Amino acid sequence: MREVLVLHGPNLNLLGQREPQVYGSLTLEEINRRLIAEGEKLGLKVRCFQSNCEGVLIDQLQAAQSWAAGVVFNPGGYTHTSVALRDAISAIGIPVIEVHLSNVDAREEFRHRSLISGVCWGKISGFGWKSYWLALHAFALRFREEELR
Ligand code: DQA
Repeated sequence: MREVLVLHGPNLNLLGQREPQVYGSLTLEEINRRLIAEGEKLGLKVRCFQSNCEGVLIDQLQAAQSWAAGVVFNPGGYTHTSVALRDAISAIGIPVIEVHLSNVDAREEFRHRSLISGVCWGKISGFGWKSYWLALHAFALRFREEELR
């Protein structure tokens, strides 16, 4: 079974209480539970991890190289600032989908720039927790196509 890392960046541990009008009312635990269940339906083993620390996120991306077929990554505020996370994504050579709960392009201008997008397979933004759900489906389609080749 293919394994997918769902990686959450800073402040996403506060989901549920953090600006629910922007990010929704589900907790991170509930989102992870739903993603693991959806992964099972799609034939994917989903492992979830959250950190507020840039270096820990980099460690997780590097470690994923040895076990994950893909990464669903919400880098939170680091999206707009982190060269180091961008470099880690480039270095690992496995497909990464950038996700955001909110539609970052419809928000403040500083959120329009992503340092991450250019090295990701794709980006999904604005669908609440279903941004992650859609990313899992994109991986399931990709893996199915790879198997048919
Ligand atoms: C976010 C969008 C970022 O701009 C913000 O800093 C976050 C969450 C999102 O999921 O919508 O922390 O990545």
